[in-house]
Amino acid sequence: MKMLDHLRDKYRESQMFFRRLQRIHYAQYVPNPAATDWNVALDQIRDKGFFSTPDFLTPQQVNSILGEIRPSLETYRQTGVTVTDVGTHEPDIELYRIRRARGLSRQMDSLFFDNEPINNLAEAYVCRDVRSYITMLEMRKPAMELSDEMLPHFDDWRHRFKALLYLTDVDLPQGPFVYFAGSHRQAPWRFEEEFDYEIHHRNGKQGALVPGQARALCRDHGYEETVITGRAGTLILFDARGLHNAKQTFRGERIILGNYFATFKDRKWKAKQFG
Ligand SMILES: [Fe+2]
Repeated sequence: MKMLDHLRDKYRESQMFFRRLQRIHYAQYVPNPAATDWNVALDQIRDKGFFSTPDFLTPQQVNSILGEIRPSLETYRQTGVTVTDVGTHEPDIELYRIRRARGLSRQMDSLFFDNEPINNLAEAYVCRDVRSYITMLEMRKPAMELSDEMLPHFDDWRHRFKALLYLTDVDLPQGPFVYFAGSHRQAPWRFEEEFDYEIHHRNGKQGALVPGQARALCRDHGYEETVITGRAGTLILFDARGLHNAKQTFRGERIILGNYFATFKDRKWKAKQFG
């Protein structure tokens, strides 16, 4: 019996098993393009892996959200205590992230987390039963140390669709978001990286590449490293299977919102995220 368990465990760690898991998993995604009429965004996400648009919110809308969320964010920065959930509180790298921000501001919920065009686009691109699993509010300030997400990385081999909204002006010194256009597509280099991610997960590279590796992939596959600067109110939508990173914040501050979408198709992943 022990021998059988051992063989089963070995198989579950094999590349053959992983290929099968991926095939079964991917067959379950049935995008629903009829859910959206935002075709410019949908077409560009399919083609490049991301879409961004300035002035998604007006300065007045941004200010009313900021007015409502500032106290929670400052309290969290100073005390590490959030009323909604544990977050990421890392003063060493000046990173303060509340993972369940829904409910902290009515304006934020109605203008962003419950935004129908964004939610419909997630369904159109990913799958009919796509759901938001993280509603994030994040502040970064200048820090000497780098954080993990400053390396080019993919978030998962499973579908993860993300919406980010800048609540402050983000120019180069504030650490803009970077996406490697085209890297969301299937390509042979991904398999080893995705297998590593699946086997080692949090104890491994977590989908991260060293910058030289990312540059080589750009050269070989024609990916375009795109730095997305923008005024407060800029929206970014992206397929998080593609390579992306944050640049370092050198000056001022960067406050962003994030709505992360996934499906419940994978039980193991679901247990990890929602368990
Ligand atoms: Fe990421």
